[in-house]
Amino acid sequence: MDETYWDTLYRTRDQVWSGAPNGVLVVEISGLAPGRALEVGCGEGADAIWLAEQGWRVTAADISQEALTRAGEAARAREVTLTLLHSDMPATPPPPAAFDLVALSYFPLHRALGPASLRALAEAVAPGGTLLVVGHDLAAGHDHQGHDGTPIRMADFYAPADFAEALGEGWTTLVNETRPRVSPAPPGTPHTHDTVFRAQRHN
Ligand SMILES: C[S@@+](CC[C@H](N)C(=O)[O-])C[C@H]1O[C@@H](n2cnc3c(N)ncnc32)[C@H](O)[C@@H]1O
Repeated sequence: MDETYWDTLYRTRDQVWSGAPNGVLVVEISGLAPGRALEVGCGEGADAIWLAEQGWRVTAADISQEALTRAGEAARAREVTLTLLHSDMPATPPPPAAFDLVALSYFPLHRALGPASLRALAEAVAPGGTLLVVGHDLAAGHDHQGHDGTPIRMADFYAPADFAEALGEGWTTLVNETRPRVSPAPPGTPHTHDTVFRAQRHN
């Protein structure tokens, strides 16, 4: 699933995601003191906009310029500011220790990239900061076809819990669990449960 795959998805569908922030982000991040946030794979920007509305200074990154254009338009409509970053995130890792929050919601990280890709994203968290990774619970499989017919084998992708092993010392794991989605799954999707990993980097 490369840049063309994602650009094509956004070009061929008016609105891909719900427009609402992911419930688990709201649950996990509400109450944290806002600072600098990096939203990895921001899509149409709903999570990034919600963070900005809570006072975070948000860099919203995506491999798809189409997605970023939508995120920018949505931010302007909500009268918040996002720094938009067109980037292939694991290939061009963010600067180390630059963000108080790094959030990944349903971000596809292929296992072929190796655990260094997980560490590179986590390294962007500043001392004292938070890493939040949310994915679909894949206990029941959930292999499917992408919008262009590409077979997607979910076991080929890292799960949030894989970060626990990749991080090593210097982190405290606060959440590493599977739970029902906060918002009901859209009709037809098998994704009824989230897997959630949240950790804090030591000072
Ligand atoms: C499943 S969507 C999730 C979008 C958003 N986080 C949400 O929850 O609504 C994954 C997003 O990650 C982006 N993406 C995929 N691979 C990427 C990469 N290597 N670097 C940056 N963004 C990527 C896609 O363009 C897409 O917008």
